[in-house]
Amino acid sequence: MLVLSVSSLKGGVGKTSVTLGLASAAYARGIPTLVVDMDPQADASTGLEIPSSTRSDLSDVLAAPKSRTLEATITPSGWVGDQLGHLDVIPGSPRSAEFDRPSLSDKYLRRLEDALQKVDHGYRLVLIDCPPSLNGLTRTAWAASNRVLVVTEPGLFSVAAADRALRATDELRRQIASQLQPLGVVVNRVRPRSIEHEYRINELREMFGPLVLSPPVPERSVLQQAQGSARPIHSWPGEAAAELSSVFDQLLDRALRTGRLRHRGR
Ligand SMILES: Nc1ncnc2c1ncn2[C@@H]1O[C@H](COP(=O)(O)OP(=O)(O)OP(=O)(O)O)[C@@H](O)[C@H]1O
Ligand SMILES: [Mg+2]
Repeated sequence: MLVLSVSSLKGGVGKTSVTLGLASAAYARGIPTLVVDMDPQADASTGLEIPSSTRSDLSDVLAAPKSRTLEATITPSGWVGDQLGHLDVIPGSPRSAEFDRPSLSDKYLRRLEDALQKVDHGYRLVLIDCPPSLNGLTRTAWAASNRVLVVTEPGLFSVAAADRALRATDELRRQIASQLQPLGVVVNRVRPRSIEHEYRINELREMFGPLVLSPPVPERSVLQQAQGSARPIHSWPGEAAAELSSVFDQLLDRALRTGRLRHRGR
């Protein structure tokens, strides 16, 4: 099972959009997938058409990572019905903010990892949408993950933030998460003919080498339209949606390839 955290320490760069794009790609392909909404803003849950008040949510799982709690919390995505996939969600809620303390003890940092070990739905992929900070919730997500995907925009401050995020994952790997590796850096909201964006992408390649994933995600308003209607981008009509779908397909392929390598290496 590949457990992939989608992170950035900077807000609004596209973590939730990339999580939803990858979920859409996995769903279109029928890959059994669980999305964990780690952000108290719960945007991923909204995008996956989860009702705003569920019986239980991530905060219940973090309070008591028991099989019973998980079974009561895991909810099928509202996308179900579009295609044949198997896509479930651990919904987020503002209540999970209580676990976003800067100094969360190791016991709490391991709670999602404990919970995922008890999940028995045959998921091949777990996608974790992280909040834009490096407090307890992001660290809890990383402790449960074997890969981190860092999202960045092609701008000066975002490049510096991506560097900080990669350094922070390295630090947590040395502390409590020996399995944690970067999948790479995905550049989001790229405008094809922007000289500034091209310059920043080259700068990222100089800094991070092959960790900069290809292709970048273009800026397309259709992504916002699909999100606003809580639909997967793969089911949205038109050329721009097809282009975005293909980008997320390629990023998913890359993620799953890494997952297979890990298993072979065990
Ligand atoms: N490639 C893109 N093309 C067009 N719009 C985009 C793209 N990526 C993200 N957006 C839009 O930018 C806004 C911020 O994106 P998103 O919510 O995914 O970022 P985030 O990193 O998850 O934010 P937060 O830090 O608040 O969790 C959203 O309105 C989203 O629809
Ligand atoms: Mg988000």
